[in-house]
Amino acid sequence: MSLPSVVSSYVPAGGLPATQVIPAAKPLHVAIISDGNGRWATSRGLPRSAGHRAGAAAARRVIAAAPRLGISTLTLFALSAANWKRPAAEVHAIFGLLENYLLGEAEHCAAEGVRLSIVGRRDRIPQALREVISRSESATARGERLHVRLAVDYSAREAIFQAACRFYKATELSAERFCEVLGEVNRSGAAEVDLLIRTGGECRLSDFLLWECAYAELLFVNKRWPDFTAADLEAAVQEFSRRERTRGALPSAELG
Ligand code: FPP
Repeated sequence: MSLPSVVSSYVPAGGLPATQVIPAAKPLHVAIISDGNGRWATSRGLPRSAGHRAGAAAARRVIAAAPRLGISTLTLFALSAANWKRPAAEVHAIFGLLENYLLGEAEHCAAEGVRLSIVGRRDRIPQALREVISRSESATARGERLHVRLAVDYSAREAIFQAACRFYKATELSAERFCEVLGEVNRSGAAEVDLLIRTGGECRLSDFLLWECAYAELLFVNKRWPDFTAADLEAAVQEFSRRERTRGALPSAELG
């Protein structure tokens, strides 16, 4: 099965006609704000870095489970641009964790048909991590079972602003073209998010995929990210299937 194209699921601002209300079915693109690593660690008397290590293990579990749940794209928030406000030691510990994760997983991902991409700025992260990212993206580029996008030094506002700066010079001024430009800024597309999950009990978007989540179903889970399991992902997919996505049209019960 090939992955959906970058903008294929983009719905124009006017929405779909009322007759095309889509039952939620299965989410193709799931995005996760993986929050709660720090609290998971401190509640156990451990350093925050231990929480991030446990968070990486949770990411592995979720990535392994995603294809059998019908998910084709999984975007995980690994480090936001705002996280630079944290102590340098913590930020660099996360960079080290990401580097080790990619070094350890790229080969396995390639064998499993998993494509790895990084979304976010690359000019501020350590050179060694930048190189490992490039190698991992090349090694897994042919993966078609699941596209895993790790958001690193990412800010949705920044990405949208960068896209707007490029778009300013474009000859074709359409929403579809803007979405393509944003996809180029992201380097791995700007496909619409079907289901956004945030763990850790907080209920906010934190500058994550603001354009792509315009019609996402939101699910806030009162569980810290290191405790999130494949069963939790499956439960989230089931919850999504019970919802009806009207995109501004009338729900089916009202259409007669
Ligand atoms: C949020 O928890 C998590 C982060 C800022 C880092 C996320 C890192 C990972 C999920 C691990 C790296 C992922 C991979 C795929 C290697 P927090 O520190 O904000 O937690 P808190 O709200 O309890 O303080």
